[in-house]
Amino acid sequence: METKEVRYLSLVAQINALIDTRCSEIANYANTAAAIQNEFKHWWCGFYFVNANNQLELGPFQGPVACTLIDFNKGVCGTAWAKKETILVPNVHEFEGHIACSSESNSEIVVPIMKNGVVYAVLDIDSTEYNTFDAIDEKYLMQIADLLSNC
Ligand code: SME
Repeated sequence: METKEVRYLSLVAQINALIDTRCSEIANYANTAAAIQNEFKHWWCGFYFVNANNQLELGPFQGPVACTLIDFNKGVCGTAWAKKETILVPNVHEFEGHIACSSESNSEIVVPIMKNGVVYAVLDIDSTEYNTFDAIDEKYLMQIADLLSNC
């Protein structure tokens, strides 16, 4: 098995090639969720968009059904939005306010996607294992978020 870093290098190149600025963001975000899921096969991988009511609203994803609306500063996703920061959660049961869309999820990473200095969407990945995500995930998922911020 290749190292995680090698897998991410290939994944980022693939997503860069997949993103088509002629297409809607839905097409590009949907393919990105599929590409990440196809490579890593985590429990859940997808996006929430900031909607007109200033809530996070479920976007393209791979995995089981999920919560549809998340308020600002709520859960891991709403906290990443409020802080404009990537949040790594080694154990979701220890994260105050974590929103359990699925009882199978034990660790999580949420990466904000920015446009013009404002959070536009978040990328959320959940794992059934504890301590799944680290600085390597953060580094490359932030690169993927950057690619999406331009489409
Ligand atoms: N656990 C997230 C909610 C989204 S689902 O995991 C897909 C949170 O606490 O924000």
